[in-house]
Amino acid sequence: MCGKTPDLLWLEERGNEVVGVELSEIAVAAFFEENDIEYEAIDGEFRHYRATDRSISLYCGDYFKFREGPFDAHYDRGAFVAMSPDLRPYYAKHTASLLTKDAAQLVITVEYDQSVCDGPPYSIDPAEATTSWPRLRRHAWVDDTGNAPPKFLEAGLEKMHEVVWLADQD
Ligand SMILES: C[S@@+](CC[C@H](N)C(=O)[O-])C[C@H]1O[C@@H](n2cnc3c(N)ncnc32)[C@H](O)[C@@H]1O
Repeated sequence: MCGKTPDLLWLEERGNEVVGVELSEIAVAAFFEENDIEYEAIDGEFRHYRATDRSISLYCGDYFKFREGPFDAHYDRGAFVAMSPDLRPYYAKHTASLLTKDAAQLVITVEYDQSVCDGPPYSIDPAEATTSWPRLRRHAWVDDTGNAPPKFLEAGLEKMHEVVWLADQD
């Protein structure tokens, strides 16, 4: 659910071998083209777009059917919060199944008064974050009201926080 986020570049520039999964082929192709990254596309159950001289691979398909790994790190921004409450437990469980037991995790959520407006992005109760991935610890939070979707502000939302969670390392 990586879309075409520049976060993929940021993660790779810090020495990670980055693997993203994204349903939209348009977003996947746009990521490589907009960033002038050469790639090859390999057909399979998931079409695999692999950068030729960078450590970035994007798999195109339904994340819930993705079974590569295990991975030693997990970055989530805009995926967990995009999912409706009924789907989130499946997403969390599926994600955990793709990770090593001590994988690094960096998860970004948002918190706001869900009674004022509905997601996405959905407000994630801290207890849900730690139930989903028990090693997560609340690391930092900032006032992100300025980046709230216009529909939230129009509904009268006054405060939204962005919250950064990191997994405890053994
Ligand atoms: C809110 S966007 C977030 C994109 C990115 N993580 C970011 O922070 O900019 C959610 C993305 O999830 C993708 N998506 C939705 N359902 C998916 C699924 N089942 N499997 C893979 N990607 C999915 C959408 O196409 C969209 O690009």
